[in-house]
Amino acid sequence: MNNNIEGKVIVITGASSGLGEAAATHLSEQGSIVILGARRVERIQELANEINKNGGKALSIATDVTKHEQVKALVDAAVQTYGRIDVIINNAGLMPHSPLDRLKIDEWNQMIDVNIKGVLYGIAAALPHMQQQKSGHIINVSSVAGHTVRPNGVVYSATKHAVRVISEGLRQEVKPYNIRTTIISPGAVATELPNTISEPDVAESIKSFYEQYAIPANSFARTVAFAISQPDDVDINEILFRPTSQML
Ligand SMILES: NC(=O)c1ccc[n+]([C@@H]2O[C@H](COP(=O)([O-])OP(=O)(O)OC[C@H]3O[C@@H](n4cnc5c(N)ncnc54)[C@H](OP(=O)(O)O)[C@@H]3O)[C@@H](O)[C@H]2O)c1
Repeated sequence: MNNNIEGKVIVITGASSGLGEAAATHLSEQGSIVILGARRVERIQELANEINKNGGKALSIATDVTKHEQVKALVDAAVQTYGRIDVIINNAGLMPHSPLDRLKIDEWNQMIDVNIKGVLYGIAAALPHMQQQKSGHIINVSSVAGHTVRPNGVVYSATKHAVRVISEGLRQEVKPYNIRTTIISPGAVATELPNTISEPDVAESIKSFYEQYAIPANSFARTVAFAISQPDDVDINEILFRPTSQML
């Protein structure tokens, strides 16, 4: 195939639905080996079975990205099984939007734990292997909300801005190790993400926005494949994409 994806060992967090699931399917169709992490283990097992049945190679490992040791175990399993890790896609995330004055402090903490610390734990798990290999690719999922801020999405937006800052700092630090870094910032993509909103009025308005504008998750999978498939001396640092009909 010679697409610079074939044979690569790719770890994906949040692979049980939405963008992570779409990326796993697409990248395995391009010939990569995918290692799937998420908490809903039956979903990633089913996806791995499907990929293996279709002639691909996939492994599923129950992973909560808020637990550093579980993210390390996910990456270490990839290295033990396949001898290396070429790409990690730090994709797990949630978006329980609400206005700040509703004081949903547990949800703020959860977003910080998953969207920021989960990404850092993915970097911590993959970086030592990639430094040793002198090759690798770290892909972090931010959002349009990582470029803007809107009412009801303040904490989410803060976490997605943090992902971009961490990724850009990482990009500069890993220069000596031949490691590529990519930030992917999607607009509205049809996934289970709006289900994480607990405030009924906010959920209703976001769900109707998604029903009107969201594009299929394969749009994300194609951007990931584009970044990975570049020649090794080309580092796609950032991709921001939206549905054509989405204004903000
Ligand atoms: N869809 C969009 O419009 C959009 C736009 C911009 C950015 N994003 C970002 O894209 C990423 C993927 O979201 P999605 O849209 O695909 O939503 P989704 O369908 O709800 O998927 C979220 C994924 O994150 C996983 N996850 C959540 N908490 C986790 C934890 N503690 N440990 C491990 N995995 C966890 C979920 O798996 P389990 O529940 O099984 O653990 C699930 O696989 C998120 O970072 C999101 O912020 C999405």
